[in-house]
This record gives sequence, structure tokens and C-alpha cells, in this order.
Amino acid sequence: MTKPTFYLTTPIYYVNAEPHLGTAYTTIAADALARYRRMTGYDVMFLTGLDEHGQKIAQAAEAAGMDPQSWVDAIAPTFTKTWEMLEISNDDFIRTTQERHTLGVQAFWQELYDRGAVYQGRYEGWYCVPDETFWSQEDLVDGMCPQCGREVQFVSEDNWFFRLSDYQERLLDFYEAREAAGAPFIQPETRRNEVVSFVRSGLKDLSISRTTFSWGIPLPFAPDHVTYVWIDALLNYITALGYGSDDHSAFDRYWPADVQFVGKDIIRFHCVIWPAMLMAAGIEPPKSVFAHGFLLTKGEKMSKSKGNAQTPASLVKKFGVDGYRYYFLRDVTFGQDGSISMESMVQRYNGDLANDWGNLCSRLFNMTEKYLGGLTPPPPARECETGADCTLRSIAGFLPEKYEAAMRRLDYASALEATWDLIKEANRYIEAEAPWNLAKQGDDTRLSAVLYNALEAVRIAALFTAPVMPGTSSAVWQRLGLGDIEEVDDVFTEAQWGRLPAGLGVRKGEPLFPRIYEED
Ligand code: MSP
Repeated sequence: MTKPTFYLTTPIYYVNAEPHLGTAYTTIAADALARYRRMTGYDVMFLTGLDEHGQKIAQAAEAAGMDPQSWVDAIAPTFTKTWEMLEISNDDFIRTTQERHTLGVQAFWQELYDRGAVYQGRYEGWYCVPDETFWSQEDLVDGMCPQCGREVQFVSEDNWFFRLSDYQERLLDFYEAREAAGAPFIQPETRRNEVVSFVRSGLKDLSISRTTFSWGIPLPFAPDHVTYVWIDALLNYITALGYGSDDHSAFDRYWPADVQFVGKDIIRFHCVIWPAMLMAAGIEPPKSVFAHGFLLTKGEKMSKSKGNAQTPASLVKKFGVDGYRYYFLRDVTFGQDGSISMESMVQRYNGDLANDWGNLCSRLFNMTEKYLGGLTPPPPARECETGADCTLRSIAGFLPEKYEAAMRRLDYASALEATWDLIKEANRYIEAEAPWNLAKQGDDTRLSAVLYNALEAVRIAALFTAPVMPGTSSAVWQRLGLGDIEEVDDVFTEAQWGRLPAGLGVRKGEPLFPRIYEED
């Protein structure tokens, strides 16, 4: 049977600087969904990559005394290495300086040209280089960029324009139709309202080429113009699939994307310009765009240019990859802004990971070794011998459904909370059933039943920690003597109670999450 497809993307990141916590945040969130969808039986295509053209990159290269191509080639590996370190499981990695992208962008331009969606004109107005955004005089706030508050420059150029103003009604109808079909295009809802009122207030045609610098993709019908970097960048989502090339089988298979992850700062590009561009070329817009909030440190947006960004590597060193991934998805509600701090990171790590999850595993694996000769026991004769057995089993039984519902909303915190309901219950169960007393009393039948139930809870919990914490979840399965958790492609069947076989060799292993002391 062929698997259904699931295509998800992150924004492609500017290579003006190395990856930081903000860019890693989007990527980890997308990765957790990609991993989960693979576990639920989808043929997943997970794309990320780099935005390498435009004035901002050209300026960064110049400041470094390098030509732009050498500059982007030098920075690109810092992204691929960071994603490897963070165990990002992307299926493809696009760079906008690749030939496949250039060809796809030019094919798209030709399509717009042939359909009469573009025309030549003169742009006079303001431009914010850090945001790569055009602004009109009325948009500016105290003469500065309304988005980032930085300086803007006056631009007067002969450019090509896209007839964005033609799409106002079509976009509004499109948002409404998706909403009526119960599959809203823009999520979460607050962002949807913001976009709808922006579109209602009127759309102006958009300048989509530049002539005052050359670091970009030339227009096929006007080679002295280079593509406006946002148009260039947005098209990565389809050029990576072979749009415009002879082999567009991936495009036919995966497009339209199921979810496109973006930060709230780039929602207009993705929810207004992007669907309008696609409509103009006769291509279906993506199924949904999800805008997450900002990570804030001491109330300020974290960014390289503000100098308040920690590197992912330094935190991974302290908390491990899984500790890092867990913190951002558990402590910040996806879709809202969230404050992050070292204190709360240490607290989450020690509380949820070292105490709840790590201890549960190591205590149980120890007891299996000590009382059962290191082998998983057979399932008890009766599934619920006591009320406590039934509670544990029923929490495990509800977990898949709760987790799936939360992941559909990209509510990672709730998905993890549901998983922790099981982990905490398993800890309570062990405390209450006290296997050490059963061993003392020589009640081997009950001892075996209690350890079976607790091990089964751990086996199931690990399935649901896996999308967010792939490494330690694999380790838990390995220590239980089970197969490769990454091979699971039907988590609902796998999560059924009672599938833990008897006689598997259980290994204790090193602590999964060694406790962190403040002075570390
Ligand atoms: N290159 C464009 C995207 C083009 S997509 C066709 C871009 N790049 S970026 O590197 O500046 O930012 C990429 C993403 O990282 C954005 O979604 C942005 O919101 C996110 N983050 C950057 N700093 C952030 C935080 N402090 N917190 C959370 N995410 C933020 O925009």
C-alpha cells in the first residue's frame, strides 16, 4: 500500500550569520513533526535550506571582504553542522544559489510573464535591508522600519512589478473557503485575523526585481534585473521538488505542502504574497502556514544583531541534544512568544528529564536486572489485577489519541504533557507497588506483573518522547532489548498495551539525563 504524503518546510535561513536559537527553534519544531508523521505512516518530505541571495547577504560578504558566493559557501556548513548536531532529519536541503533553484525561479518568472501577471514600472520608496522589505513613506515609524526599527534607505529603481492588487478578493475568498472547509490556511487564529485585516485594508502591486545590485537570479526576459530576494526565497518550496525542471515527479507527489512553518515576522510573505504568486502561476497554495512566536530573553526578541543570542552548541553541551530540543518545545507554547532563561532550562531538565523520565528508566532497568535476571517478564495473566494497574493502563491507552490531537494543532507542550502524564503515573505506580517489598515478601508473581506493567509504560512513553527526543528514546528501546524506534511507522499499533515481549535482555546503561548542578 502506498503511504500518504506529508510535506513540511521551514523558512530558508539567511546566511548573513550563523544559526542561533531562533532559527534552531523553527527547525526543531518542524523536525519533531516530521519524525512524528513518519511514525504515523506518512511518506514525509521535510525541507529546510538557506536563503543566499539579496542585498543583505551581499553586504555581509562585502563586510567580510569576500565575494558573495565564497561567503555563502563558507557559512552554509555552519547550518548543516548545527542541524546535524541537533539531529534534524530533513530529507532535502536547498540553497538558493543551486542551479536547480535558479532554473525553477526562471521557469516561474516565464510563467508569470506569459500569463501577464507582471509589468514594468518605477519603484520609489523605502527599503529595509535587514528585513529585505519595501516600505512606503506612510509605513515608516519615526522614519525607521516599522518591523525591526532599523534604518531604511530610499530606493528609486526601474523594476518589474507583480499585480498583487488583483488578488485581494481572491485571497480573502481563499482564506474563507479554507476556514469553511475546517482546514484553515493560517494558524494560529490570532495570526489569521491579522492577515485578513491586512488584506482587507488593500494590497498594492509589489516590486519583484532589483537593478541596483546583481547578487540574485536574473529575470529570463530582462537579464539586467535580478529577482527580489523574497520572491527568490519563497520559490524554494517548489524548486526543491523539481518545479520547472524535466523531473518534477517530487513536485507532483508532494505539492501542495501540508504545513509551512514560519516565524510571525514573516507571515505576510507566506500568507499573502506566496499564495498570490502561486495563484498567478496556476499552482495550488499550500494547505497551511503555521506562524510561531518569538523566543524572548529578558523580554527582548533574541537575534544575532541584538547580541543577545546564545549559540545552540553551548546549550547542547550543557543539556545534551535532547535536553535542548525538549526545553524549547515544552516550555514555550508553540504559536506564542515565550521567555527563555537558563534558570527555567535547568529546572525543566532536572525536573522533567533527570527526575521523572531518566529516573523512571534507570530504576526500572535496575530492578529488572536485580529481581528478574535482566529479562523482561511475561505479561501478567490478568491485565488489570488492581486499580493501580488499570489506571496506568488507561493513561497509556489515552496517550496516542491525546498526542495526535495535540500534534494536529502543533501544540507540542500539550503532546509532551500527555506523555508526562504516563511517565508520572508510572513513577507513582512504582512507589505505590514497591517492587522491593514484593521481592522481600517473595511474591514473585506480583513482582513480575508490576515490573511488566511499568516496563510496558516506559516502552509506550518512549514512542511518544521520540519525535522530540530521538536519541534518548532510541536508547530506551535499545536498553529494553527492542528494535530501532526510528523504524516504527505505525505508532498507534505499536502503542497498544501488552506488546512488550517476554525474555528480552534489559540493560541498565548510563543515566540518560545526568543531573545538572547550577555550578556546571
Ligand atoms: N530568509 C528569510 C526567510 C525566507 S523563507 C522563504 C528569513 N530568514 S531568517 O534567518 O531571518 O529567519 C528565519 C526564521 O527564524 C523566521 O521564521 C524567524 O521568525 C525565525 N527567528 C529568528 N529569530 C527568532 C527568535 N528570536 N525567536 C523565534 N524565531 C525567530 O526570515
